[in-house]
Amino acid sequence: LEGGDYVVTDLGHTAASTLQSLPVVLRLLLENVARNSHGTEREQSMASIIRWLDTGTSKEEIPFLPNRVLMHDTTSTPALVDIAAMRDYLAREGGDPSTLNPVLPVDVSVDHSLAIEAFGTPDAAAVNMQHEMRRNHERYRFLRWSAQALDNVHINPPGTGIMHTINLEQLATVVAAEHGAPTRLHPDMLLGTDSHTPMINGIGVLGWGVGGLEAQTVMFGMPTMIRIPDVIGVRLTGTKRASTQATDIALVVTERLRALGVSGEFVEFHGPGVASLKAGERAVIANMAPEYGATTGYFPVDEETLLYLRATGRDESHIGMVRAYCQHMGFWFDPDLNPIYTKSIEIDLSRITISIAGPRRPQDRHNYTESGSVLDALKAPFSAEMPAALPRFPVALAAITSCTNTSDPRLLIAAGLLCRKARALGLKVPPWVKTSLSPGSPAAGRYLARAGLLPDLHAMGFDIAGFGCATCIGNAGELTPLVRESLARAQTRPVAMLSGNRNFPGRIHPELDLAFIMSPPLVVAFALAGDAHKNLDEEPLQTDAAGKPVYLRDIWPAEEEIDACLASSQDAGDYRSAFAQASSNPLWDALDAPDGDLFPWNDSSNYLQPPPFAAMRGQSLLGRYTAYPLLVLGDDVTTDHISPASAVPRDSHIADYLVQRGESRSDLNVFAARRGNWKVMVRGAFFSRSLRNLLCDACPVGHTLHIPSGEMLPLHEVAARYADEGHATVIIAGERYGMGSSRDWAAKVVRLLGARAVLAQSFERIHRSNLIGMGVVPLRLPYSLSCGPLQVRDSDRIELDIDPEQLQPRCVIKARIHRAEGHIDTVDTVAAIETQLEVQFLLAGGVMPTILQ
Ligand code: F3S
Repeated sequence: LEGGDYVVTDLGHTAASTLQSLPVVLRLLLENVARNSHGTEREQSMASIIRWLDTGTSKEEIPFLPNRVLMHDTTSTPALVDIAAMRDYLAREGGDPSTLNPVLPVDVSVDHSLAIEAFGTPDAAAVNMQHEMRRNHERYRFLRWSAQALDNVHINPPGTGIMHTINLEQLATVVAAEHGAPTRLHPDMLLGTDSHTPMINGIGVLGWGVGGLEAQTVMFGMPTMIRIPDVIGVRLTGTKRASTQATDIALVVTERLRALGVSGEFVEFHGPGVASLKAGERAVIANMAPEYGATTGYFPVDEETLLYLRATGRDESHIGMVRAYCQHMGFWFDPDLNPIYTKSIEIDLSRITISIAGPRRPQDRHNYTESGSVLDALKAPFSAEMPAALPRFPVALAAITSCTNTSDPRLLIAAGLLCRKARALGLKVPPWVKTSLSPGSPAAGRYLARAGLLPDLHAMGFDIAGFGCATCIGNAGELTPLVRESLARAQTRPVAMLSGNRNFPGRIHPELDLAFIMSPPLVVAFALAGDAHKNLDEEPLQTDAAGKPVYLRDIWPAEEEIDACLASSQDAGDYRSAFAQASSNPLWDALDAPDGDLFPWNDSSNYLQPPPFAAMRGQSLLGRYTAYPLLVLGDDVTTDHISPASAVPRDSHIADYLVQRGESRSDLNVFAARRGNWKVMVRGAFFSRSLRNLLCDACPVGHTLHIPSGEMLPLHEVAARYADEGHATVIIAGERYGMGSSRDWAAKVVRLLGARAVLAQSFERIHRSNLIGMGVVPLRLPYSLSCGPLQVRDSDRIELDIDPEQLQPRCVIKARIHRAEGHIDTVDTVAAIETQLEVQFLLAGGVMPTILQ
């Protein structure tokens, strides 16, 4: 373990007791600084972290460089397309394109494009794989080209599972050896282009979600600068009840931390309750960090972590090394230590009950019996025309889905056992419910088979439909005919019941604005009930073959049953072998991928077009200008609103464009699959039925007002007109602009639309950083310009003077709003810029110009 010595030496001046007062996440950041930075920068950054102890908070910045980067197919495609386009640019400028390569390992999982077309049959996974390969053929060819052309890029093909599950089961080492120096050890740390990257915090690996642009920065060896975070301690006490699952704890943690407000901060779990949780359960709780608003949800390494590593087939020698290194370096969990936290809360695990969250936000948690009263409060409008054959709130989708709730074997085993009991009683899922099971990795298929649960799952329609994100990302496929018909007649308000993590309106399915999040066994229960309104404590699920009512409590699996089934089904060898088998996907291997240093683009492609970002080199959006408002939006604009991932609507101008280019209107797939084509993405910008453009009440979806002419046109056409006319534009929004995900297209489309700044009351962390990565200036407003007496209207112009010489993190920028009546309102906005590196990006015009520099 000599490798640890250099860090210990560096910190030699600091008393061990001082280090023990630091939360473990800060000790890990300290190690990262010590290892990756040099000279004065290192001294100052390390001193800043130690100084954090004085107040438990800091405004100082430190560099962070991970060891690796994790991506999925929809965030990696645009990043890799950007690199391919930058290679073209280099070649045109006379440089050697083969020299432009990531320098950190980049693991890409092709997980976001699986759609649930087939379900409820044993061959559903195979059928869905065929659909996926056919629809994404061109993009997948490109990914295969990337793997051969670019150093350090490795692609895990479709069928290998969800990136976070693969990370837990296969990629994470917890402790890694330095390349070329096997005795120099360091903690495994990563950044991922997905907000659920902190799932890996469940096994003591520090990592969090960033935008695709921040990932491009680090993969080219530039550190990302982070503010030393506030660290929120969550002290866990007690032991969870036998009837509850990790999902229930995650929902309570989400509710409590959202109420506290931990946006952008690091959460660390401690206290005696930690040891009572299995590592798989911790990963469920860590996974929901973006839902509670935090950057991380960190659990330190302990014996349970090592048990998980062993259960998933890691080498004993490696496990021994993890123990020795973590104990030696002070990264081992010690329940007797009381580190200092910025804020702390306590959660008693024994008080947590079976929960659901929704129907529109993950932090709105209720007892599982309360869905009916929550739905009643919605006062849903129904057609009086004719009664539906369905309940008023039919369960339209019952989906066991998501990295969050399909990676812990206990959850899937519990769902399988519930199916087994329901099958034994002859219960059936009603015909309007679309059921699906899409686990995070193929290992789940192995242990469910070993447990003999696949026939039971099949009997309730929960056949494995594939290994990927599926319903969680909105690829739920068509609803059942009964639900479609009742929707068309406005007779019902169908609801999605899923084991996901997000439930914003339209996220799960464009036709559904209500969704409850819950554990996999509860998904099965609501599938059997068929009615989202049912109180599963008081009302029976169904009657059995003998006419006897069956209640949930009659078939809810006991903890000992889950334990026994788990013990008999787990085989550590399954994890590696199932992954290896899925990795040699014959459909993937058969793709005719091109080779060579440059990608051969095709003008007629609707999936891949080289973006113009490299050519924006030197085009900073700073300076003095007076802008038209392109859009005026309210609160809670999500990245899904800004750049949807879901199906391309068949009746939209985007569909018209694709049909003109040879596609069939009936077979258009999802926006997420088109992220290699900026021409489609810019047309899809802000195309969301649940988004209101306050500039123009009568605007159809995806349209805005071209103010000089008074015409309502598709947004990209308006943006192009303003550009042709030489007019600047900005976007106005309310609170939490950009909430949702790391989707860098949500920032890229804003740049392509030509908006020079976004003025919002608050920004979600990753999206703010993505805007800066695209050279767009985020400005924080002190109050709303979206509504109320100061609302910006189509007659107003916004004057900004963003002096490149004066630009600093959090500097004040005056916005002068020229009102139609002739007066000017002056608003002091604050630049939502956190670091000097971000200032550099804005001066250069974004991340890509900086990489090219
Ligand atoms: Fe995929 Fe949903 Fe997780 S989209 S990465 S399964 S949060």
